[in-house]
Amino acid sequence: MVSKEIKKIGVLTAGGDCPGLNAVIRAVVKTAIVEYGWKVMGIREGYEGLLLNKTQPLLYDHVKGILSLGGTILGTSNRANPFAYAMKQGGKTITEDRSSVVLERIKELGIDALIAIGGDGTLTISKKLYDLGVPLVGVPKTIDNDLSATDITFGFDTALNTATEAIDKIRTTAESHHRVMIVEVMGRYAGWIALQAGIASGADIILIPEIPFHLDKICQVINERVQSGRTSSIIVTAEGAKPEGGDMVIKMVVDDSTDAVRLGGIGDRIAAGISDKIHLETRVTVLGHIQRGGTPSAFDRVLSTRFGVAAVELLAEGKFGNMVCLKTPNIESVSLSDAVKELKTVDPQGELVHIAKSVGVSFGD
Ligand code: F6P
Repeated sequence: MVSKEIKKIGVLTAGGDCPGLNAVIRAVVKTAIVEYGWKVMGIREGYEGLLLNKTQPLLYDHVKGILSLGGTILGTSNRANPFAYAMKQGGKTITEDRSSVVLERIKELGIDALIAIGGDGTLTISKKLYDLGVPLVGVPKTIDNDLSATDITFGFDTALNTATEAIDKIRTTAESHHRVMIVEVMGRYAGWIALQAGIASGADIILIPEIPFHLDKICQVINERVQSGRTSSIIVTAEGAKPEGGDMVIKMVVDDSTDAVRLGGIGDRIAAGISDKIHLETRVTVLGHIQRGGTPSAFDRVLSTRFGVAAVELLAEGKFGNMVCLKTPNIESVSLSDAVKELKTVDPQGELVHIAKSVGVSFGD
């Protein structure tokens, strides 16, 4: 791809939000302005901003004080896929390829290169735009930590800490009431949050999509605990956990979203399945979007800043079509096609599952 000299870049945040987005925006704006003398245009609500011309200049002062702020000052959307833009027509949802509008808008706005901050959906769209000639780079975000090309996505650490802290609190009330507490956490098709929050909080049972569970086994573990005098139990379940031979529980389908399926409800199913087989009361807590909110952890602030600076540097080097990534201890880059090739899921035979089992955690298998 022939690239012209960069004078102005665009930056957007797309897909579900997560803590650390503002820290990336801040790093991008500061580095672009101070190190390279570029102008920065903020694109609002992900790719929707390019389709509907919702933009704002980002000056140095605009990013002051946002390092520790959750959410994204640019807004985000997981509905605006330019290649399949969803619209209502006669009560039905239809989709249209509007990628040409995006290409035109980038020209109109005088944007020479773009930084897209997002998860697998956003990065897939970005890869297609790059193939159409848009000079861009990607930055991996998601609390789910399910991108195989990076050791960690930013946002994950904060979500993990939020979930861990919540489970710690649930444990005290579980013990007071001698109850089984089921805590359902996010993570979509990967069990990273459940696994690590479960280990960090000393959960008794951890259920993840990668290891299908048996209800009988869960009941057996709880009953054995009761027999040995432990009258409360903590089950941490990923929203994508499923019984052996069964399916994930779908909470809703969002037609016009880049990934339409929303998971949720497995906690209640497990509670219903075990309540007549054990003699303890069972309660379910769904942590939900609390995991996506709040101030980013120190780890996420540092990682986001490293990613933001590295993304600007990639643009300066003309290394378009790549995504910044963490290959511990270094920040590196990987092609967008490799970045979206494979979902990173928990290895049932991996070290984390092994150490959890070694300290007595059951996976219900
Ligand atoms: O991908 C991030 C995530 O929070 C998932 O863990 C969860 O399944 C999904 O997004 C929820 O999406 P929404 O905000 O549309 O309900």
